Amino acid sequence: MQFDTPATTNPIDRLKVIGRPIPRIDGQLKTTGRAMYAYEWHDSNVRCAYGYPLGAAIAKGRIKSMDISAAKKAPGVLAVVTALDAGKRKKGKYNTANLFGGDEVQHYHQAIAVVVAETFEQARAASVLIKVAYTEEKGSFDLKAAMDTAVKPESEQPDSAVGDFEGAFRAAPVVLDETYTTPDQSHSMMEPHASIAAWDGDELTVWTSSQMIDWWRSDLATTLDMDKEKIHLMSPFIGGGFGGKLFLRADAVLAAFGARAAKRPVKVALPRPFLVNNTTHRPATLQRIRIGAERNGKITAIAHESGSGDLPGGGPETAVMQTRLLYAGANRMTAMLLATLDLPEGNAMRAPGEAPGLMALEIAIDEIAERVGIDPVQFRIINDTQVDPEKPERPFSHRDLIGCLKLGAERFGWEGQGRPGSRREGSWLIGTGVAAAFRNNLVMPSGAKVRLDGEGVVTVETDMTDIGTGSYTIIAQTAAEMMGVTIDRVSVHLGDSRFPVSAGSGGQFGANSATSGVYAACVKLREAITQKLGFNSDDVVFENGEVRSGNRSLPLAEAVGPHGLVGEDTMKWGDLSKTHQQSTFGAHFVEVGVDVDTGESRIRRMLAVCAAGRILNPITARSQVIGAMTMGVGAALSEELAVDTRRGYFVNHDLAGYEVPVHADIPHQEVIFMDETDPMSSPMKAKGVGELGLCGVAAAIANAIYNATGVRIRHYPITLDKLI
Ligand code: MOS
Repeated sequence: MQFDTPATTNPIDRLKVIGRPIPRIDGQLKTTGRAMYAYEWHDSNVRCAYGYPLGAAIAKGRIKSMDISAAKKAPGVLAVVTALDAGKRKKGKYNTANLFGGDEVQHYHQAIAVVVAETFEQARAASVLIKVAYTEEKGSFDLKAAMDTAVKPESEQPDSAVGDFEGAFRAAPVVLDETYTTPDQSHSMMEPHASIAAWDGDELTVWTSSQMIDWWRSDLATTLDMDKEKIHLMSPFIGGGFGGKLFLRADAVLAAFGARAAKRPVKVALPRPFLVNNTTHRPATLQRIRIGAERNGKITAIAHESGSGDLPGGGPETAVMQTRLLYAGANRMTAMLLATLDLPEGNAMRAPGEAPGLMALEIAIDEIAERVGIDPVQFRIINDTQVDPEKPERPFSHRDLIGCLKLGAERFGWEGQGRPGSRREGSWLIGTGVAAAFRNNLVMPSGAKVRLDGEGVVTVETDMTDIGTGSYTIIAQTAAEMMGVTIDRVSVHLGDSRFPVSAGSGGQFGANSATSGVYAACVKLREAITQKLGFNSDDVVFENGEVRSGNRSLPLAEAVGPHGLVGEDTMKWGDLSKTHQQSTFGAHFVEVGVDVDTGESRIRRMLAVCAAGRILNPITARSQVIGAMTMGVGAALSEELAVDTRRGYFVNHDLAGYEVPVHADIPHQEVIFMDETDPMSSPMKAKGVGELGLCGVAAAIANAIYNATGVRIRHYPITLDKLI
């Protein structure tokens, strides 16, 4: 099905099931331990051996030799496969660094061996007996220093410019020119990367933890140099991803090699330190922002330049993207620079680009608003735009940033924001802050297969994943709405490469895209039923478990007959981006307290207002947003991968050293969704919220800390040493 015009009569608009606050249908499986995650998968006929990875102890160079004799003789060891044994492999499409194989070391903790043993402890103990000799090369590990040799990235559009920025900036009566930095960040999802691999002849079955089934399957086939059709990949339950599981990782490759060598199914979970130094992270940024404004608060000139680094062949953190679209202003420019770093691979983490971009931009907006002397909520409203400011002929499909700011200000009690440093309660300085939220809305082709059987049960199959987001539930809601049945009559099966290829979970495109694919498949199924019965397609109605047309009606089970009927389709999108810009919007309001003696910042309350099209399920959507807001607190106050710039690795490689917020850090959160639909996003008229909820949060906190203390911190995280 091709979608490029606004849907008119659409069963989804009945809103009998869609839009309802239905608790997640997989919740019971998860809370009772019956949902099997990758590492837990078991079958009484299969006894898994355990694989333990060895990571490179240098950041750049070559492996001269590996002595595995002691490891092989260690108790319980079944096999040892080294990078030298595996040989140089073809690299998958989505990774920057090699995952395994060959003598080249591209970053610290790149996988160089897997030890397979009867138990986990035996495999781990044997792994340290491997002796490796390296030829070490000098690497580049310091972003600031590497910026001297940074180049324009080869991305689609590294720069943009409209009007005369330099001229307008010079002429502006009020200006701001500041530099902001964001650190390397780690996804730190609960469930580590983990896979079980089992060979049957030349066919491979892999239970893993993947956001994108088809990407993983293709890249695993490339890496193992085998036919993609011979790989069966499953990832039905996932303990978080945040972008860290978008791309094939070493656990799946090592499990496949280990299982082949040990002639047994093998399970490999990456140890927590590997999540930091073996997998991907969000790259650090250095951002310069210049803004010129009139005394009436109108922005006349705005420039955003961002530098970041990555391994050779990698890409930039696209931190300027939101600045191309968020505020009006006739004269503007953005630019990105990419430095070569030999640190572990930088790649997508929740709201790549916008999340760190807004950490800088939304402080800058607070600063220029203050210099102009206009309330920061009002300043943002004054500079709203309903069209793409770089291409004014392109309106937004729907944009209600002003609505979010106004409603948020009212609900939060914004009027009370005093002068910086003017509110005190005991030893606490109190402050409030605001920031806009912005994240583009992407859509991805998505397929599904829907079957209605002779019992009247609707079964949905798609390789869509549920990374804790609620995909199972909104997909069941979609099928129930389309087929006119209650949700308990729908059975949803996800995360299996035997099912139609879906959008997968990423870029906050999953909910809208995957449910649209289910919509399309249901349309096909409705057509098949209508045709079988000879009903009139103009007046056919699927409702209350029945199909009706004119004065005829029939229970669905009877309509499809004992063998049932199937509908399958893939939702595709036309090229809407030429005529319209699709984005999601929001406003974050935060109140903080800062201890005058220790400089410790504490969140007191947070409010997010989101405008993101139709909300398919307010429970699961809210859960996405409060999780994202919590992640924003980490970004603002604690999260930072510390780089050892001599040896080239991230030092704080576990959850003791890399601090993410806990419940006690978040006393009060509220989320409001604007009651809206996006007529152009899809037949669901929905967009995404999973990344929007993070965008802007850290800046709102930084602005609140400034309001509390009068101290402006432009370098994240805002730890107490920076305030004292
Ligand atoms: Mo998201 S960083 O595309 O999972």
